Amino acid sequence: MAKPPSDDAKGPRFSRRSFLKTAGAGAAVSTLAGGVAESAPQILGPDAVPLTLKINGAAKTVTVEPRVTLLRALRNHLDLTGAKEVCDRGGCGACTVLLDGEPVCSCLMLAADAVGREITTVEGLGTPEKLSPVQAAFVECDGYQCGFCTPGFVVASTAFLNKSKKPDPSIDEIKAGLAGNLCRCGTYGRIFEAVQKAAKATAKPAPARRG
Ligand code: FES
Ligand code: FES
Repeated sequence: MAKPPSDDAKGPRFSRRSFLKTAGAGAAVSTLAGGVAESAPQILGPDAVPLTLKINGAAKTVTVEPRVTLLRALRNHLDLTGAKEVCDRGGCGACTVLLDGEPVCSCLMLAADAVGREITTVEGLGTPEKLSPVQAAFVECDGYQCGFCTPGFVVASTAFLNKSKKPDPSIDEIKAGLAGNLCRCGTYGRIFEAVQKAAKATAKPAPARRG
C-alpha cells in the first residue's frame, strides 16, 4: 500500500531550505543596503520551529520546518484532513481553505506565512450534526461521486456565496466563482445545483425600502 505523503516526499530538502535562507538573507541585505535597517527580518529554520496558527477560531501551535506547506501542516500535523492533497501545485482546488475569508490553495503557501491570519477549513464550516447551508445543499443535491473534491468545492462555494450575496446566481457566475476547482468525476451539474440551492438558503433579503 502506498505510504501517505510526508513533508519530505516532494523535492530535495536542501533546495527549499536553501531558498528560504537565501530569500531571508537577501531581504536582510537589501534592507541594510537601503539604509532602513530598523529591524532585521526573522530567518526561520532550517530546523522545525513552533508556529501558532489561528484555525477555525482556535489558536493551534504546530512545530514544523519552515518549508512545510499550510496543507501539510493541517493534514500531517494537526489532524485536519478535510483539505485534500491532489495536484500539490495549485491546479485543482482540492486543498482550498479560507485565509481571512478568501479562498486559497493551501498547497501553495507555507504554514509560516499563515501566522497571524484567520484560517478556515471545511471542518470549521459546520459539523455532522449541524451542517453549514452549503454542506447541507451538497448532501441534498447529491453533489459528489467519490467525494474527494468535495471539501475544496464546499469551501470555494462558501467563499463565492459570501461574496456574491445573490439569492439566484447564474450558472455562469457559479462557474466563474468555482473556476479554480476541478471534479474528476464530472459532477459539475449537481455541484452547481447545490450552490444555487445554498444561495437561496443563505442570501439575506434586501432591506425593505421606507417612505
Ligand atoms: S492540491 Fe492544492 S490545488 Fe491541487
Ligand atoms: S466527486 Fe470525485 S472528484 Fe469530484
